[in-house]
Amino acid sequence: MRILGIESSCDDLAICILETPKKILAHQVASQHLHAQFGGIVPEVASREHLKTISSLFQSTLQSLEHAKKKMEGIGVTVKPGLIGSLLVGLNFAKGLALAENIPFIGVSHLEGHLMSTFLEDEIPSLPFLGMVLSGGHTHLFEVCDIGERKLLGCSVDDAAGEAYDKVAKMLGLAYPGGPILDQLAKQGNPKRFHFTPAQVKKGELYTSFSGLKTAVLEVIQKNKWRDIFLRHAPEDFPEVLDLIASFQNTLVKSIERLFKRAHENFPKHPWVIAGGVACNSAIRERLTQAAEACGVKLFIPRPEFCTDNAAMIAYVGGQYLERGISSAWDLNATSNDKQI
Ligand code: KG4
Ligand code: ZN
Repeated sequence: MRILGIESSCDDLAICILETPKKILAHQVASQHLHAQFGGIVPEVASREHLKTISSLFQSTLQSLEHAKKKMEGIGVTVKPGLIGSLLVGLNFAKGLALAENIPFIGVSHLEGHLMSTFLEDEIPSLPFLGMVLSGGHTHLFEVCDIGERKLLGCSVDDAAGEAYDKVAKMLGLAYPGGPILDQLAKQGNPKRFHFTPAQVKKGELYTSFSGLKTAVLEVIQKNKWRDIFLRHAPEDFPEVLDLIASFQNTLVKSIERLFKRAHENFPKHPWVIAGGVACNSAIRERLTQAAEACGVKLFIPRPEFCTDNAAMIAYVGGQYLERGISSAWDLNATSNDKQI
């Protein structure tokens, strides 16, 4: 089945055309760089930009295909969770196209997209697995049993991992999104220089928190007058700040590692999966690979372009539902709500 995937839940707009189960014929992402000037995403701006871009992005993706492959047989589109205006642009586009072409469409959870994105790779985990979405909005750990069958085991009770990265970067005067920049800077710092404690979670519980860590980092920044320091100085001129970044990252990775190890006690045979933008992080990839090995299981991580927001993961999940005969009704609405994941 030839599936069109549409992802527009936040500031990235992505289109993918895929032949089930996972042969990618074409895929494109249009990122919005204009949010950098605001230090974060402005929802109203994001949805208006999507509206301007979606038709041309769809057409240019289609143009890269030979004529015989231009006809779609189904559509998968992100409908939750996310910024409501952004989601509605993608959903309405999908409905219009489905109506015009007389093909089925299915609303897909962005989180299920991230969790299943590892299935776009050649080497895939067996089901069930322990899967964690690490992104700008989520630090959520699931037991994933199949398409449409997953159970939330735990999460961060406050900031998501990506949000913590982006906020610390902003305090230091670094550009948005700060995660990839801090990832590089942390490599030059000493992770043991500052002692932050990973959030305490009751034994057996699979919840964590990053707001305490963020506040502890902020206190160091304020005490040393390092706020916006990189607006005035090159990072290599302030090695102590690089140590702070490395120590922050080290603590955050410890918290994530701890959640997986706890979950592993209950599910010792389940392979591990991480996905979402923060799963591009080099320290997280390395440390969790080692932790999984020590626990006798394998960690699966999609390649970086399928960790960050993309439409291939939505087309993949959409294709799985449509091939099982499951599609959405015309009155399907978008949901911003985290609770309906
Ligand atoms: O999954 P994603 O593209 O969008 C959401 O669904 O949120 O994730 C974006 C997040 C941002 O917070 C960004 O700073 C973070 O992923 N990120 C990283 C890295 N690359 C992206 N965080 C840490 N290290 C990275 N290398
Ligand atoms: Zn995402």
